[in-house]
Amino acid sequence: MRIKRTEIPAAEIARQLAICADLRQRFEGRAPLAMVDTFGCQQNEDDSEKLRGYLAEMGFGMTADEFAADVIVVNTCAVREHAELRVFGRLGALTHAKKEDPRRIVAVCGCMARQAHVVEKIKQSFRHVDLVFGPDELWRFPELIDTVLAKQTRVFAPGGGDGCVAEGLPRLRSDKVRAWLSVMNGCNNFCTYCIVPYTRLRERSRRPEDILGEARRLVAAGYKEITLLGQNVNSYGRDLENGAGFARLIREIDAIPGEFILRFMTSHPKDAGGELFTAMRESGKCERHLHLPLQSGSDRILRAMNRRYDAAGYLALVDRVRAAVPDIVLTTDIIVGFPGETDADFEETLRVIEKVRFDAMFTFIYSRRAGTPAAELPDPFTREEKQRRFDRLLEIQNAISEEKHRACVGRTLRVLIDGEDREQGVLTARSPGGRLVRLAGGAELIGRFADAEITGFSTWALRGRLI
Ligand code: SAH
Ligand code: SF4
Ligand code: F3S
Repeated sequence: MRIKRTEIPAAEIARQLAICADLRQRFEGRAPLAMVDTFGCQQNEDDSEKLRGYLAEMGFGMTADEFAADVIVVNTCAVREHAELRVFGRLGALTHAKKEDPRRIVAVCGCMARQAHVVEKIKQSFRHVDLVFGPDELWRFPELIDTVLAKQTRVFAPGGGDGCVAEGLPRLRSDKVRAWLSVMNGCNNFCTYCIVPYTRLRERSRRPEDILGEARRLVAAGYKEITLLGQNVNSYGRDLENGAGFARLIREIDAIPGEFILRFMTSHPKDAGGELFTAMRESGKCERHLHLPLQSGSDRILRAMNRRYDAAGYLALVDRVRAAVPDIVLTTDIIVGFPGETDADFEETLRVIEKVRFDAMFTFIYSRRAGTPAAELPDPFTREEKQRRFDRLLEIQNAISEEKHRACVGRTLRVLIDGEDREQGVLTARSPGGRLVRLAGGAELIGRFADAEITGFSTWALRGRLI
């Protein structure tokens, strides 16, 4: 699938920034505040930092209090029904803030804002929402806000085309140690259960020089962990002329001088392979971790999901990555209860999981997404049956995760201390494979690399002691 790339001209972004400057003058004399609420994946976190960047250019300070905010933006996720229900709950709760001050602007963006039925529902039933814009319209957020303010009207801009690439947006990062770096957007895979190709549109890659420039600036600014983002990073560069691929990108970022960790997600098993594994092994900075979503271990279900690999192919790939990158930490995603999944299919999934023994797993009960092919399939199994499978899967995986963690006890690992835990006096850190390590220490250590001896573990984390 080759599509024409739509790149937003630099002059257009300059025009958006000029609108920001105008708005800043309009707010002169007082300090307006904005709140950006984020649901969903890291791509949305990444987008929210761009929204905050634009808002800062308009002169807004940030707040977490909706009753103090002049502008409220809710950045939404449509991946499962549960996510959508949470967003609608949040939107409902915002009626109070809007009633208290009707001049307050409420905006909704992100993946839900691209779906026609959601836009219609907001139009009819969430009348306190002033602005709706899809993920691909984010680059013209200033213009949209300006229209709402100038015309005092509701604006709906879900977006039309196949997706664009926009460079040079301002950005307000929320963390000083870890940074997101989006390398591409969209997805062409059309797994039959998934809404993402419809909300995030066609795959398009940023140019390597733009990505490298941003990576260099992040390292110079003192960031210690860079996470490359894409729905399927292994197809990075296929829409570019110069043959840039993801493995080469890893090598080039790895060559930037400085001490930092390079992570990435997500890899689709159908295109992960030798070149990437070699680049990972040879890289001094790349985290020894691969998130490789399996989804199901049943060939019949994998076919129905349009995943384009089978269980044997997946297992062979795991063998290859383990041979190429010793010590690799493997994690995965599993969907339980895809339409028509039988007990026998589920047993196949368990069989693959027992063979691979993942370090960690993210499990989801299938959620019907209107407009996707799987939504039309008969789905005879009850929620209770699916829940039973889900619980069983979790129990098996928790035992495996604990066993993997137990094997780390007594080892000394080079960790990056990246934040404070909820527990007082405890810091969070990441092992070379991306495992969460909790250790005692003061906040002044955040952003430092250190050696930690692993002294204990739980299902989700290791416990360590700084050496
Ligand atoms: N692009 C990434 C992540 C996509 S969304 C990838 O392909 O790996 C993250 C996870 O959500 C998916 O891996 C899948 O396990 C799950 N997911 C997506 N759509 C779903 C649905 N309709 N119901 C349940 N889980 C779903
Ligand atoms: Fe969804 Fe599949 Fe694309 Fe991942 S690869 S975003 S699961 S369609
Ligand atoms: Fe959700 Fe969209 Fe991400 S649907 S998971 S926010 S790509």
